[in-house]
Amino acid sequence: NALARYVDPLPIPKLIKASGLRPDPNNAAKQIPYYRVSMRQFQAKVHRDVSPTTCWGYEGSCPGPTFETRLGEPVLVEWVNDLPQKHFLPIDHTLHGAEADKPEVRTVVHLHGGRTGPASDGYPEEWFVPGYSATCYYPNQQEATSLFYHDHAMGITRLNAVAGLTGMYLIRDEFEDSLHLPMGAYEIPLVIFDRSFHTNGQLYYPVSGKPNSPWVSEYYGSAILVNGTIFPYLEVEPRKYRFRLLNSSNGSFYKLSLSGDGSVRSDTIEFFQIGSEQGFLEAPASMHTLILGPGDRADIIVDFSDRAGKEVFLRSDMAVFMQFRVSAGKVVDDSSLPATLRPVPRMLESAASKTRELTIADLQNRLGQSSVMLLNGAHWDMPVTEKPVLNSTEIWSFINLTDDSHPIHLHMVRFQILDRRPFDLTVYQLTKKIVFTGPPVELTATEMGWKDIVRVDPMTVTRIIVKFEGFTGRYVWHCHMLEHEDNEMMRPYEVVPA
Ligand code: C2O
Ligand code: CU
Repeated sequence: NALARYVDPLPIPKLIKASGLRPDPNNAAKQIPYYRVSMRQFQAKVHRDVSPTTCWGYEGSCPGPTFETRLGEPVLVEWVNDLPQKHFLPIDHTLHGAEADKPEVRTVVHLHGGRTGPASDGYPEEWFVPGYSATCYYPNQQEATSLFYHDHAMGITRLNAVAGLTGMYLIRDEFEDSLHLPMGAYEIPLVIFDRSFHTNGQLYYPVSGKPNSPWVSEYYGSAILVNGTIFPYLEVEPRKYRFRLLNSSNGSFYKLSLSGDGSVRSDTIEFFQIGSEQGFLEAPASMHTLILGPGDRADIIVDFSDRAGKEVFLRSDMAVFMQFRVSAGKVVDDSSLPATLRPVPRMLESAASKTRELTIADLQNRLGQSSVMLLNGAHWDMPVTEKPVLNSTEIWSFINLTDDSHPIHLHMVRFQILDRRPFDLTVYQLTKKIVFTGPPVELTATEMGWKDIVRVDPMTVTRIIVKFEGFTGRYVWHCHMLEHEDNEMMRPYEVVPA
């Protein structure tokens, strides 16, 4: 498109401040930080030359403010729905949970990747309407990492997400402090998502053409935004930076790289990944490209010290979407990139007490008119079938019978990827037997770290190993392509007491 490039500085979401202290619901003698976050409609300026865009955001910004919390220090967050009564994106009333008798504007907040009790996890049916709020308790009993908070309302999550309801949530700990990574002005969140726009600057969300059922199966925007801005630039010093990446797109996967001149063919610049979704990797991984799917986070270090006075560009495949302007000269950089980080002991398959084989498949919908993608052939409102026992370990084996990659996310837990292996689809369809057609594909460094979401590639069996630690109760697992999630690609699961 013809938009001028690199005319807007990268906005940095502000850190949220607690609005006071409240007694800890689990320990009335203790006072803990209490935050109040209002979801509001606001006008966003996505680019110098684009008229203001109507959006919804936490605290009236998109991304919303960043939380900075610490391991072992719980917080209370009151999420307040101050949105209008009408939605401005096309609701499909044929989708489960979004029927015409439901209020148009419904919200519920999920802290993605949080080991949160079920009452505070943002169950999709526990939505609330404008004028109401919900208070959540986040224990922060998990290792330092970057989580994110976003809307999860049944049947309209994809629309609330495109409207702008997303933000980052960091957990820090002493181990992280001891690493002396770049911090303060040298640690920057990069929240990446794509959007399409009408010529008047308003958000464009496509419709199917079926008058009563506007749902579309995927949303890919025409522009990639970083922290809510199209083609931003960031002035950096010739030193190390830590970037906290989040892909909060509805459906896009990015293949990120850094280049010296923004051209597609130019050399790619090395960077180091130090963390995946649920914490640090064992050691920094030298990377030239990084695949970041919907819901994925990555913690990376980029050293600009040998690029003084030059420009560096961030791109995804062919699309260049952000510029770093490295100042000239030399600076003192006392931050470090340690040779080793936190051990990530491999979980042993022998520790698993159960293996579940779960298909991802296109099936005829109940009326037989069109197809719908389901998890293990089950609709949202069918009885719960996944009931892991608290503190037990299970292997979940996802058998993808579709032609798409699906990012599968489990609430509450962290897990490891065991393997991803191609199999013969025809044989499976005829016999329901898995015949592998090759060895497991090699996992990248990020996939060897702790995860809460896994890319299940087409015609592969992708296996994860999970320990169900934390809480008993009702949670969900789902595809994080939000259009899929909203149309039956989400299932409840329940952690049951031993
Ligand atoms: Cu990022 Cu169930 O969500
Ligand atoms: Cu999907």
